[in-house]
Amino acid sequence: MFSSSTRTIPAHSPVPRHLAVIMDGNGRWAKKRFLPRVAGHQQGVETVRRLVKGCTDRGIGHLTLFAFSSENWRRPAEEVKYLMNLFVAALEREVGRMHQNGVRLRIIGDLSAFEPRLIDLIRRGESLTAGNEKLHLTVAANYGGRWDLMQAFNGLVQAYPEKAGNYTEVDLEPFLAMNYAPEPDLFIRTGGEQRISNFLLWQLAYCELFFTEQCWPDFDEATLDTAIASFRKRERRFGRTSEQLLAAPDNKTNPLAAVLTAPTLPAEFPDA
Ligand code: IPE
Ligand code: IPE
Ligand code: MG
Repeated sequence: MFSSSTRTIPAHSPVPRHLAVIMDGNGRWAKKRFLPRVAGHQQGVETVRRLVKGCTDRGIGHLTLFAFSSENWRRPAEEVKYLMNLFVAALEREVGRMHQNGVRLRIIGDLSAFEPRLIDLIRRGESLTAGNEKLHLTVAANYGGRWDLMQAFNGLVQAYPEKAGNYTEVDLEPFLAMNYAPEPDLFIRTGGEQRISNFLLWQLAYCELFFTEQCWPDFDEATLDTAIASFRKRERRFGRTSEQLLAAPDNKTNPLAAVLTAPTLPAEFPDA
């Protein structure tokens, strides 16, 4: 079980342990080029391949990509169909390479809505790569943060009906779809919108957010590095004050430690 940002203070890390990405702006990328929207989705698959490599090279252990939300069914039927076919094609083409590169693939979301062929490819990809540890790649497909919370609540109530009224965060977390990963510490959304769009609602509690105007097909390593550089400069307080942070054991890695003077705290002050 990983530490929870609301119950313990996660250890400082100069490189995000878990990067979560909303891959947005495919349609606008295509429109700017007078191409059909789906050309943007196709090009977006190339960006995924580059980012997987970029994360592996930088020692990022977990990468989670939002590929299709529980609300994306509202799109025109032809676009939805194209996206499903693209998912099938991407799995057929990429899983072997991922396996060779030590990537472990998991899909989170309500898979029951998908065609049997896609479900089968997902299951086969997950089991082929199950022993890999270099990069944990999670693709959120037919995923919604509210769906995740509801399926977790329902699982919890079914498993422990006698505890009703007294459930804790610790009880719920094993039932969440991403129970195998630390909470994301860096979130990137491309395409210029500054919203969460029902992504990882529970897990983003204390995540650092980074937004870029760049559309997903254009997203590159330079922007990834800009996001990581921004992440490094953030003062991650997790509810504490700056002064407490400076007095905490990990303050050597806090970029503000060099410019601020650590105050003396009363001995009885709880050191978070
Ligand atoms: C993100 O790009 C891909 C999916 C949501 C599947 P969009 O298709 O949302 O692109 P824009 O936001 O319309 O430009
Ligand atoms: C979020 O993008 C979902 C994915 C990237 C899969 P959307 O394009 O669907 O989000 P909204 O509708 O602009 O909020
Ligand atoms: Mg969009």
